[in-house]
Amino acid sequence: MSAEIQIRSDGHVLSRIIEGKCIEELGSILEKEKHTYLVYDRKAGGHARKLDSFVKASLALDTGEESKTLSSVEKICIWLLESGADRNALLLAVGGGITTDMCGMAASIYKRGIRFAYVPTTLLAQVDAAIGGKTGVNLLSYKNMLGTIRQSEFTWMSPDVLTTLPEEEFFDGAAELLKTFIIDNTSHSYSAAVRMLRTIRADGWAPEDYFPQISHLVHEAATVKAGIVERDQFENGERRLLNLGHTFAHAIEHHSRLDGSGITHGEAVAIGIILAARLAEKVKKDMPSGRKSICDRLSQDFQDCGLPVKCPYALKDMAEAIRKDKKAEDGKIHFVLPFEIGDVRIVDLSVDEMLAIL
Ligand SMILES: NC(=O)c1ccc[n+]([C@@H]2O[C@H](COP(=O)([O-])OP(=O)(O)OC[C@H]3O[C@@H](n4cnc5c(N)ncnc54)[C@H](O)[C@@H]3O)[C@@H](O)[C@H]2O)c1
Repeated sequence: MSAEIQIRSDGHVLSRIIEGKCIEELGSILEKEKHTYLVYDRKAGGHARKLDSFVKASLALDTGEESKTLSSVEKICIWLLESGADRNALLLAVGGGITTDMCGMAASIYKRGIRFAYVPTTLLAQVDAAIGGKTGVNLLSYKNMLGTIRQSEFTWMSPDVLTTLPEEEFFDGAAELLKTFIIDNTSHSYSAAVRMLRTIRADGWAPEDYFPQISHLVHEAATVKAGIVERDQFENGERRLLNLGHTFAHAIEHHSRLDGSGITHGEAVAIGIILAARLAEKVKKDMPSGRKSICDRLSQDFQDCGLPVKCPYALKDMAEAIRKDKKAEDGKIHFVLPFEIGDVRIVDLSVDEMLAIL
């Protein structure tokens, strides 16, 4: 039995997030589709190939941020064309956020748009990238500078696809999982997520042992994200909250790409959230005394979960990259600041103002 979260707009279902136990269950949906074209991350190939009998053609990708480019999207489109995909085609992407972002973009422009669906195979993609319709590729060394907003027909979630994920890739998604509950902790999942991540760090990564907890937390995070996207699909307000940590993270990743230090997206997001918390504390000077500061609490929790908290670059050196933030408007950046777990607000500041405060 699979559960379903819907993203709706004006009474219509824009996208469905369907939760199952294993990828094979997706067959019951795909057997009704006549024109499914499968693109998968080669490292998730063992899962993707379980769907072989339901697809017309399949394409394996070797992924990496350096190949998350317009030319890779073009190659997917050329493959669709050569495989005979018409306007009725369903492009099914099985992989992490790079695969889903690129396939979503390819599907949203191929023949001016065909349907697409995702099977996210990383924690990061399950709780974030494969929900909400943002597709995209990098431009030069700037992240996701080109892209579209278009919803997947459905996103299939099952924990079994995480079994082959290396521990460090699982933890790369941990920052986005925690980010979601820092934004909205209505379900009280933040502490549960910290507890689970801490335990996995201590006991070792044995995914099967954690299926119930992972499925539960992925469900809660997906519910939060789907709710925000439903209320603000095109990011005019509330959806900006999901960028918590990302303004700093994108600048950190930009510098890391230039100096080759290999900081991952999840690591950059963890550090970015801590920087945002530090900024929040400086902006909010009326901190109730005696209470552990949000920055201290998050730093402690993140370190317990094995996530980095120290920024390897001086803020003034990151200023230029921060100024290029996609969301900058009239010289101001919408900084997303966590004042408490579950109390995150947007504060508009110029980069110079941010530097002066921090
Ligand atoms: N669209 C959005 O809203 C959104 C949100 C957050 C992040 N993103 C994007 O997502 C990307 C990061 O996503 P990611 O962390 O999933 O990266 P990824 O797609 O690169 O996957 C991480 C690594 O895990 C491997 N992998 C994937 N699934 C596997 C599996 N089941 N078993 C073994 N290995 C597997 C991949 O080959 C890769 O080496 C970034 O490009 C980021 O910009 C998009």
